[in-house]
Amino acid sequence: MHELYTVLAEYYDTIYRRRAERIMEEIDFVEEIFREDAGRPVKGVLDLACGTGIPTLELARRGYDVIGLDLHEEMLEIARRKAKKEGLKIKFIQGDALKIEFEEEFDAVTMFFSSITYFDDSAIQQLFNSVKRALRPGGVFIADFPAWHYGGRDGPIVWDEVKGDERLVITDWREVEPAFQKLHFKRLVQIIKPDGSVKAFFVNDELNIYTPREMRLLAERYFTGVRIYGNLHRDLNPKEGRYWLVAIE
Ligand SMILES: C[S@@+](CC[C@H](N)C(=O)[O-])C[C@H]1O[C@@H](n2cnc3c(N)ncnc32)[C@H](O)[C@@H]1O
Repeated sequence: MHELYTVLAEYYDTIYRRRAERIMEEIDFVEEIFREDAGRPVKGVLDLACGTGIPTLELARRGYDVIGLDLHEEMLEIARRKAKKEGLKIKFIQGDALKIEFEEEFDAVTMFFSSITYFDDSAIQQLFNSVKRALRPGGVFIADFPAWHYGGRDGPIVWDEVKGDERLVITDWREVEPAFQKLHFKRLVQIIKPDGSVKAFFVNDELNIYTPREMRLLAERYFTGVRIYGNLHRDLNPKEGRYWLVAIE
């Protein structure tokens, strides 16, 4: 598990190039939530499961004081390198999102790009509890998660990307266990070197499927104002491909 964030960490930004290109829109939406939903002005942000820092860096570029936390040092090394190159002051720390011990230190906590679906219903409650503690009064927690049950393709989906003189061929598919609401996300990454040799990596991650209603009910155990928005707009329609959980401390 987690090959994508260890041996393949240096290819993460290439694999998700198209998503990285849309990060400005995502952070525009997050800033709208900061302005419209948070119960306090937002300056200090904790970005949990920050990965290579795609959203973390964009928040810092816009003037927020950001700390990025991730389980995998391989991902953090890339994030630190990118921040240094841009002269951005961001603290990146290695840690488990479930074990954070911050006490009223942030105006917002974020968790982007389906990272929250790594946690099952018991772990997610541990997460909510720690996030709530980390937030200052009126602070906001924001996490996006996919609508796996609606209109998604079980695959395979194949696409290619280029990284320097290497070519990547990525094949994704998934197996859903509806009774347990588990999603087995599978990915084959083939890296084709300039001499034609191929290195292949297999990713097999177990993710949890949440409906918007389940996510809201779980979050309401810990937070006061809980809203589920659609993708990049502050309402919800039945055809969303992605949801945003917004929860106020
Ligand atoms: C899909 S990536 C998202 C990365 C980043 N948020 C982004 O938007 O590009 C999921 C991230 O979750 C991290 N992760 C998984 N379990 C974690 C945990 N228990 N604590 C902290 N980070 C975790 C992985 O290392 C990986 O970087």
